Amino acid sequence: MAFDQEISKRRTFGIISHPDAGKTTLTEKLLLFGGAIQTAGAVKSNKIKMHARSDWMEIEKQRGISVATSVMGFNYRDVKINLLDTPGHKDFAEDTYRTLTAVDSVVMVIDCVKGVEEQTERLMEVCRMRNTPVICFINKLDREGQDPYDLLDEVEEKLNIKVRPLSWPINMGKTFKGVYSLYEKNLHLFQGSKQTLGDGVQKIEDIQDSRLNELIGEDDAEQLREDVDLIESVYPDFDVNEYLAGNIAPVFFGSAVNNFGVKELLDCFIDIAPNPKDRETDVREVAPDESKFSGFIFKIHANMDPKHRNRIAFLRVCSGKFERGKNYLHVRNDKNFRFSNATAFMAQEKETIDEAYPGDIIGLYDTGNLKIGDTLTSGEKMMYKGIPAFSPEMFKEVVNKDAMKTKQLEKGLKQLMEEGVAQLFSFELGSRKVVGTVGALQFEVIQHRLKHEYGASADFVPMSLFKACWISSKDQKKLDEFVKSKYRHIARDKDGKLVFMAETRSWLQMVQDNFPDINFHFTSEFED
Ligand code: G4P
Repeated sequence: MAFDQEISKRRTFGIISHPDAGKTTLTEKLLLFGGAIQTAGAVKSNKIKMHARSDWMEIEKQRGISVATSVMGFNYRDVKINLLDTPGHKDFAEDTYRTLTAVDSVVMVIDCVKGVEEQTERLMEVCRMRNTPVICFINKLDREGQDPYDLLDEVEEKLNIKVRPLSWPINMGKTFKGVYSLYEKNLHLFQGSKQTLGDGVQKIEDIQDSRLNELIGEDDAEQLREDVDLIESVYPDFDVNEYLAGNIAPVFFGSAVNNFGVKELLDCFIDIAPNPKDRETDVREVAPDESKFSGFIFKIHANMDPKHRNRIAFLRVCSGKFERGKNYLHVRNDKNFRFSNATAFMAQEKETIDEAYPGDIIGLYDTGNLKIGDTLTSGEKMMYKGIPAFSPEMFKEVVNKDAMKTKQLEKGLKQLMEEGVAQLFSFELGSRKVVGTVGALQFEVIQHRLKHEYGASADFVPMSLFKACWISSKDQKKLDEFVKSKYRHIARDKDGKLVFMAETRSWLQMVQDNFPDINFHFTSEFED
């Protein structure tokens, strides 16, 4: 197949949701459609369930399992789909944010009973940073949910994105009769859990068609006609370019667990979701169809076996063709590397691959050279942008409990930070080290892994800090003065960038007011 056809047939995307909205269920149904799994339950059993906080076996198991399910590749119609898993648990939000840098679009699952929830709002903010196209799937229509118009308003309001329904439900809960697809102009009748694929789909080109009355009854047919009329008059015609620009989110209704509305979603997704597009580096924009290979690392996964410290680095191919055994430039270190055993992820199996195309995610075995955010190229010196660190929300100081194991502690911390488990800040004053995370769970993970994988033992002492803000200024002198005057609160991140450790929101506000020439950023990547 020609190179440009390989690119145009790829769709790399992630499913995001607040926990329990139905992400795992939807993932599983999509894999069933793609023939990547044969039985329901295969993905479900891998789900990260965090009931017992200190259940170490659970966390360890999940770390191992999630390598296999981190990327699921499958074919549907003539399209190669790469579905990237994003942990729903909020303590792993950083991981999700980074994974979103490697996708070209997103499907967002919303529970029709609960509406837009907190985690969805945050994830949407991340999508907006890169104008990632979003399709919305409103799930659990077999339950008594909120009124669909209210749900759409809530999505627009809370997620700050315009919506355009492409399907419409006929009732909900006990009286749920199905959905009408405004995209394909057909009626899909709901037949409960006994539903088989393609069952109950009726082509209804004209909503006035009297067959509608026979199929769903007169009252519901009349209501549907009114709804469709209203939608067509209130919402603008669906413009795929507006979706691709990240301005408008098409909305589908369904019930993932009943496999209902999922095929409509997938069929539309295949039609409209973007294939790999140009990506920005610090030097120039790179087009996927350029002949030379380039890509970046967005995730690093430690191997399960603590005796062998190799890791798997997840690389997103951005341009050209990746070929096994070829030499590629690791830009940050200015060194050439050869990867003789790259793997692709097809459903839950890893397999060695010889080549990969833009949009594909490959796993590279690494012994500690690769870091999140690293770029590999065929020789050009450029770094992909858009893999920022976000300000953590919980901070704890690292206290070494075993002076004999200082080296091990430092090495362990460095490697765990490179994996992106958390962020390390080193205070300029007194070289105190502070670990920042999004959730409490990471501290347990770090402590456990330091002990078991590196033989180091550390305590984590809570610190009351509000945010870590990366600082910059157009005026170097002013920046130096600021650092001098606030030296007790200045630290460096893992790349040596200056960070202001703000203790409270109000104090940060005051400092911002007092130092108007200093820019405070909540992510590590910024333009001044
Ligand atoms: P998540 O990955 O977003 O966290 O959600 P997940 O798919 O695990 O779904 C959360 C719960 O919602 C599951 O129930 C699942 O069966 C249920 N669910 C998913 N889709 C639908 C739907 O369309 N309708 C209804 N009524 N429920 C749905 P659970 O009780 O937590 O798990 P299980 O015992 O059913 O496996």
